[in-house]
Amino acid sequence: MLTAPGDFTHARHFAGARHALAQAQSLPPWTHTDPRFFAREMERIFRRHWLFAGDADRISKPGDWWSTALAGVPVLLARGRDGAVRAFANTCRHRGCRLVPPGEGNARAFKCGYHGWVYNLDGALAGAPQMEHSKDFDKSAYGLVAIRAALWGKFVFLCFDANAPPFEEAQGGFLRMFQGYEFDRLVTARRARIRVRCNWKIYAENLMESYHIPYVHAASIAGNDFDPGMEALAGKSGGLYGRTPGQPVWLDFGPNHGAIVSRHAGSNGLLPNERGFPAMPGLSGVAAEGSYFAYPFPCALIAGNIDCLWTVGINPLSAGETELTLAHHFHQATMARPDFAELSQAYYRRLDAATAEDVVITEEQQRGLDSPFARPGRLSHMEPVVHEFRRWIVDQVAD
Ligand code: FES
Ligand SMILES: [Fe+2]
Repeated sequence: MLTAPGDFTHARHFAGARHALAQAQSLPPWTHTDPRFFAREMERIFRRHWLFAGDADRISKPGDWWSTALAGVPVLLARGRDGAVRAFANTCRHRGCRLVPPGEGNARAFKCGYHGWVYNLDGALAGAPQMEHSKDFDKSAYGLVAIRAALWGKFVFLCFDANAPPFEEAQGGFLRMFQGYEFDRLVTARRARIRVRCNWKIYAENLMESYHIPYVHAASIAGNDFDPGMEALAGKSGGLYGRTPGQPVWLDFGPNHGAIVSRHAGSNGLLPNERGFPAMPGLSGVAAEGSYFAYPFPCALIAGNIDCLWTVGINPLSAGETELTLAHHFHQATMARPDFAELSQAYYRRLDAATAEDVVITEEQQRGLDSPFARPGRLSHMEPVVHEFRRWIVDQVAD
């Protein structure tokens, strides 16, 4: 395994990645393989920033719970009797057992399997057998540790840092981008979870550029003639990847996000020649006439289209392994259509086909990078979000 040098946080290792796009170099290959660098990313990025966790449909009713691990931290989300969504460290306050195994369900309270301590949906410790014999034991001081949670429409973000800015402040520009959708009327129709044997950054970057589309996705989405990657390669790029809204494709960057916004006919959610749904109701602005590929750094893609949204949650497991959660979200009016069950399959086929191709190539990239002869490369003009993402990473991890 390719390991990092002793001074791996030194800024000199990342100077090439900070150059302007036309001169930028890739990150050192060991940033994708070394466990110490991975630990640094967990500490500096995943323990400090707001993280996309998924959709709140999993916990729509009082008592619904959802247990998962995000960037290695066991978390428990629950909707209380009061309707509020809360997140907790999924760790018992007695001797630290994981309280609820991964999964979903509905409960009145949570009981630890080890010695029977019981917690309410709001995290308060409700019962602790035999503890009346312990001196000065105050149950109110041993509730579950709360984790900051923010609900944005149906999407849940978590932050493990009590001192980080509020979600709206950290991701303000990103949130405004999606004002053209009726988020509160979206319903999650399908979720799929897969493991990929590559570093989390490799998969994230794959989702951030269309340079690879003609090569990796020749058998699937490459035929979509509104795809910006195809347009640029065909020399039709014109003002492609400009910064001005209204160009065929433009970029939107904020302190903690990047986005590719495209104005085009049709839907990015389908394979070429497949039939889908009409535009969902309530769209305005770009949402009504194009698509968003938007990345709330560090770990999600939110793809907005006229007929559906899909999300990819990127959950790092180790330096070389990542869990993806792919989810499709449709407007409730779309889901009420009699042809929903049939036509929705077309959207799943598109994402499944492209994902299978991306998994193959990202695992090959991981293998290639994990070589003593791997060297930093260069970027094309078609990888501006990748470039911005790497600079953001470097800002977090370098001394
Ligand atoms: S560790 Fe949970 S009750 Fe003992
Ligand atoms: Fe791809």
